Amino acid sequence: MRSVKEQEEELFPSTPGKVKIERAHGINRQFHRCFASTSTMFLWALFLITLTASYLSFQSFVSTSSRFLSSSAWDRQIRESAAPVRSQGLSVLVTGAAGFVGSHCSLALRKRGDGVVGLDNFNSYYDPSLKRARQALLSRSSIFVVDGDLNDRRLLSKLFSLAPFSHVLHLAAQAGVRYAVENPSSYVHSNIAGLVALLEAARSADPQPAVIWASSSSVYGLNDKSPFSESDRTDRPASLYAATKKAGEAITHTYNHIYGLSITGLRFFTVYGPMGRPDMAYFSFTKAILAGKPITIYRGKNRADLARDFTYIDDIVRGCIASLDTAGESTGTGGKKSGPAPYRIFNLGNTSPVTVPTLVSILEKHLRLKAKKKLVEMPGNGDVPFTHANISLAMAELGYKPTTNLETGLKKFVKWYLSYYGHSRGRKTNL
Ligand SMILES: *[C@@H]1O[C@H](CO)[C@@H](O)[C@H](O)[C@H]1NC(C)=O
Repeated sequence: MRSVKEQEEELFPSTPGKVKIERAHGINRQFHRCFASTSTMFLWALFLITLTASYLSFQSFVSTSSRFLSSSAWDRQIRESAAPVRSQGLSVLVTGAAGFVGSHCSLALRKRGDGVVGLDNFNSYYDPSLKRARQALLSRSSIFVVDGDLNDRRLLSKLFSLAPFSHVLHLAAQAGVRYAVENPSSYVHSNIAGLVALLEAARSADPQPAVIWASSSSVYGLNDKSPFSESDRTDRPASLYAATKKAGEAITHTYNHIYGLSITGLRFFTVYGPMGRPDMAYFSFTKAILAGKPITIYRGKNRADLARDFTYIDDIVRGCIASLDTAGESTGTGGKKSGPAPYRIFNLGNTSPVTVPTLVSILEKHLRLKAKKKLVEMPGNGDVPFTHANISLAMAELGYKPTTNLETGLKKFVKWYLSYYGHSRGRKTNL
């Protein structure tokens, strides 16, 4: 777009007198004489100033009205995106909607006719182009994703005033265990301050939505009782990430207690699958194996392999949607609760931990390539040796039942990876 100055210069060349005089000289001598007179010059100058002034005021009128227009168009997009298209449908604000779990949940909700508005700050913790690609996918399903930050309180209250959300699916967070060593404040900003900003907006909203949010299996920390049950102790986090998620469980409890917000915390166990997070091991291993680069495999004490209860994205999406569907209503209005509201915590895992070397061998099989493995003793930077979910509570209360094992899930991931990043498997197999 051209600046006002450029447009002005086009209409009023910087030396108008000169241009006019030159032209006038060739065309009309009488006209030239006009210019020669001082009083006529003064009148011309006055005329030009008036013209410029009216042009500028017209410009500002146009830009003000277009700003007004674009803001009401924005409002309409929010309202339309939030409106369910089935009767009894939910209206869900999904934070972190351009994220891995957020985008999959948004699509699944939209598919069954629920209203969905996304919120995402598109930060560069990992390649934002993947987030934009997910956003484009959501946009094709008529899901509007607001480009904004959780900590923008005015934005949040504006969203709640535009749409009567029945639910908030709060998945926005600073993820990753090891990155906290590098950038601790990012965890406080998103997982603590951002969470409080969201809960403040939710408790002031009328109607108050039910809040379903992503906690983490990492809250079990140094727990060595296996499998991990919701009633196990979670007061020994091994990373700042885990500590902020544990804090989130305490903070949401407070908002449930004081304001009557219906709260469901979901402890996800190593979620993986198509369009996943590039910072996770299965993803970065795939990239390295395809590039012929070595991968680092950590081992625990006494050379014990690390193991994770890898959970496929479609199973997690079903768990999230079942949580939305079974969440009781919030009981507050105008910042006061009228009775107790539900506070629930569920493990969403797969109940079958797989060691990292087994993960690598499954990837090697699907990629038809051998990995160059570097075995390294695990540094003490936040990783726990193993995770294993007890999911009997989610089974009983949510009807949650994971159906995809790591072998099948990684096959789907590899298929997506090769098509998304445009690798030709045919040529690679000859190596
Ligand atoms: C799993 O959790 C349930 C409570 O949800 C508990 O009753 C059961 O004993 C746990 N199972 C194991 C093997 O820890």
